[in-house]
Amino acid sequence: MIIQPQIQGVVARNCHPFGCQAAVSKQIAKSLTQQSSSNALPKRVLILGASSGFGLASRIALSFGPAKADTIGVSFERGVSDKGIGSAGWYNNIFFHQAAEQEGLISTNIVGDAFSSETREQVAKAIKQDLGGLVDLVVYSLATGIRPNPETGEFWRSAIRPVGETVEGYSVNFEKNSLDMVSLPPATEQEIEETVKVMGGEDWLSWMQFLSERKLLSKGCETVAYSYIGPEHTHAIYHKGTLGLAKTHLHNTRDDINTLLENIEGNANIAVCKALVTKASVFIPGLTPYLLALYHVMKQKGLHEGCIEQMNRLFYDKWQNSSARDAEGLIRMDDWELRDDVQQEVNALLAEMNTENFTDVGDYQGVLGEFLQLNGFEFDSVDYSQDVDIEALKVLHP
Ligand code: NAI
Ligand code: NA
Repeated sequence: MIIQPQIQGVVARNCHPFGCQAAVSKQIAKSLTQQSSSNALPKRVLILGASSGFGLASRIALSFGPAKADTIGVSFERGVSDKGIGSAGWYNNIFFHQAAEQEGLISTNIVGDAFSSETREQVAKAIKQDLGGLVDLVVYSLATGIRPNPETGEFWRSAIRPVGETVEGYSVNFEKNSLDMVSLPPATEQEIEETVKVMGGEDWLSWMQFLSERKLLSKGCETVAYSYIGPEHTHAIYHKGTLGLAKTHLHNTRDDINTLLENIEGNANIAVCKALVTKASVFIPGLTPYLLALYHVMKQKGLHEGCIEQMNRLFYDKWQNSSARDAEGLIRMDDWELRDDVQQEVNALLAEMNTENFTDVGDYQGVLGEFLQLNGFEFDSVDYSQDVDIEALKVLHP
């Protein structure tokens, strides 16, 4: 089978397995050269949301960077079948595991619903069997639109909405190469509540409670969850909208987890990351024009980072550095994004951007390229005219 990208709006309907392998290898190469002066790096790590975006980059940075960590990765992905090639994260898991094995590292993949108790049990078993019974770090990097309510089995659904006002903003369409104006009405009380249920800190806390009860956390165990705040320009749709309220809940959950971990001298962290193209972020209306402008400006200034650069800098620079934390104790990985000179130039570009000129004013080719690469397309090292043997892929397991 010859695999060409099938894009619908902001969703990729397929992926290229060997391009996913190229994407993983490219990130690994960036962590292999990373240095660290710390002698307190985590050796046994659990990553929830390990198959793409910041979670995958965390796993790669920790395994292939100086920590040389053994990992367990949990994700929700689809394998190859007669219905389709499967999801990019499925292949990221497979090729991460192959590369880790070659380095003599332990890497266990658990593919299942991180919200379910079955998956929690599988993780507990894997920590005992594969990591000697304890983890030093738990990375919480789930991004999803739905979470089952464990009491009713019904789903909470997140809604990306402003709060208290209607907001208009452009949404990108990678299929048609267009920017479409969308008008978002304010969230209802229920939409706010459900978004906080899905993307707030409740499940993070519940995971830490589970791991703590089972005595699977080492002395001094750390945990980190990822957040976004962003500049004034995106506040109406993000920071002051439903997602921002969920993130505020996530930030507050740190206190509960710190209390929970007191007896083992553990510690909960929030890393506020840079805005990046991921499977999740391209869904946020109003954010794309900002991404187009931000990529343009940060690349011009030599400040652009992808997920792997952010995670290398997090674990090997910011983590040990107390001045990397703001007044609220948040680790600021958005420091370069929020620099005054960057934001001034971004605002100037946004002021002139419209549906006609966005491909010139912003870095559309760069953003589209990263989006396609998330799904294994657009790598020079891959020959996309080659036939892919589906039967051979069916034999591979994460
Ligand atoms: P992503 O979509 O690339 O990764 C999400 C991961 O969660 C995948 O591994 C997926 O398999 C897993 N997942 C989703 N539902 C699951 C379930 N039910 N069970 C098990 N695994 C499940 O997302 P991304 O962008 O890496 O997001 C991770 C975190 O980083 C989120 O909290 C997000 O808000 C945050 N963040 C993202 C930024 C961005 O610009 N993309 C900026 C700052 C923070
Ligand atoms: Na992730």
